[in-house]
Amino acid sequence: MSATSAAPHGAEAVSIAAERRWAVVVGVIIALLVAMMVITGLHWAAMPPSRVETIDVHTLHLKGEFVEGNLGTALGEDGKVTVRLIAQQYSFVPQCIVVPAEMPVTFRGTATDAIHGFVVGTTNANTMLIPGFVATFTTSFRKPGEHLMPCHEYCGTGHEAMWARVQVLPPEEFLARARGGERLSCVPR
Ligand code: CUA
Repeated sequence: MSATSAAPHGAEAVSIAAERRWAVVVGVIIALLVAMMVITGLHWAAMPPSRVETIDVHTLHLKGEFVEGNLGTALGEDGKVTVRLIAQQYSFVPQCIVVPAEMPVTFRGTATDAIHGFVVGTTNANTMLIPGFVATFTTSFRKPGEHLMPCHEYCGTGHEAMWARVQVLPPEEFLARARGGERLSCVPR
């Protein structure tokens, strides 16, 4: 009888010890996860993300990437398509943007005066344009067609009237037009 009454006692002591060990292990895991969250959170809050690219607003139209002659769509020698655009109160330059369908397209844009932004139709091409910074993203358009590209950051009294158009061409047609190497747009001349 004493053996049977002693047995549950022993088992209980073992299970309590196991429970305690497990609690310590779980406690350590939780503490580690919280420490990771705090350290990475503070790290990212204290450091600018690596993709921040700045540009001097005052010389934007005079030299460098965003001079007027370089705006529009370019087909690089490496076959990459880059659209460069500028937003200002209250228009985009160029007013009509040409891109190929089914090919990666990199947008690079900035603003001259206030914070603007744009979204291309119902696609995921969407960014803010902030004076002093270059916004960039790469996307591709599934099928040829035409999209409206409104400014979606309130930028002043003319905000509602600020928009551009985006023409998505079949890839062959785009490549045929882009071969010359000049900057493309669909702004009527
Ligand atoms: Cu530009 Cu709103």
